[in-house]
Amino acid sequence: MKEKIKQLAREKNAIILAHNYQPPEIQDVADLCGDSLELSIKASKTNADVIVFCGVHFMAETASILSPEKTILLPDIDAGCPMADMVDPIDLKAKKQALGNIPVVTYVNSSAAVKAVSDICCTSANVIKVVNSMDADEILMTPDKNLAQYAASNTSKKIHLWDGYCPFHNLLSAQDVNKARKDHPKALFIAHPECPPEVLALADTIQSTSGMIRFAGESDLSSFILGTETGLIYPISKAYPDKKFYPASEKMYCKDMKKINLENLADSLKNLTGEIKVPENIRKDALGAVQRMINL
Ligand code: 13P
Ligand code: SF4
Repeated sequence: MKEKIKQLAREKNAIILAHNYQPPEIQDVADLCGDSLELSIKASKTNADVIVFCGVHFMAETASILSPEKTILLPDIDAGCPMADMVDPIDLKAKKQALGNIPVVTYVNSSAAVKAVSDICCTSANVIKVVNSMDADEILMTPDKNLAQYAASNTSKKIHLWDGYCPFHNLLSAQDVNKARKDHPKALFIAHPECPPEVLALADTIQSTSGMIRFAGESDLSSFILGTETGLIYPISKAYPDKKFYPASEKMYCKDMKKINLENLADSLKNLTGEIKVPENIRKDALGAVQRMINL
């Protein structure tokens, strides 16, 4: 199956991008795995005619925003992000206006329509840099309240929150972390900034998914508790087979991230099904927000 997918990709001049939470067999067949920032940058630079995004809807939309001339495929168009669905452009515009039109920083985990009414995007890897780059004392951040509170604790700016969250990262509790620490007393605890503030307060370091992989590689220590979606255990263990990685909680399992499989990937490549194309009027405005982030 993997050979067939590689062959189809060559025939269509396609590149396969996979998020770090994707199933192992998808990561193994991908040309590039990474976090949201790395994948957006790669999507903006590739010469391929077709980008197959193994991830969720907003990631494929971001590729379409950056590369309107390319065919962007999401092998299961129902793979979405529940957090991205917690904000819509009408409510966002109303809140921005109510706050006196302060700038909006929007997490890439959002629809193209929401990006189109935002001033700049951010990811978990660059959120502090993005917030501190803003020429304003007050900022509205959307949709992730946890990411926004993390940014607020690393800036002198006043951050207004939107009441969105990742249903899986938000599940992790201080109790879960304390239990994992008790079970693995020598392990460092690495948290994703989508976790709640009381969890981040317990973290030895706070990182994006690829940041976690780099951090574990550079550390002299050999065991780590990961406060993120459990799919990360695969690429991080593959990168450092001599180190040990434990999920902070098995509850952190995102079903949407597991909707892509070898069958729907092969089918999408063969028949060019699951195309994602952001309408031009939305794309133009969304591009401004995404490009300003990439340019930083
Ligand atoms: P990163 O890989 O950018 O840290 O994002 C995590 C995530 O939730 C993607 O859905
Ligand atoms: Fe969205 Fe959370 Fe799933 Fe990432 S892990 S796609 S933020 S629901």
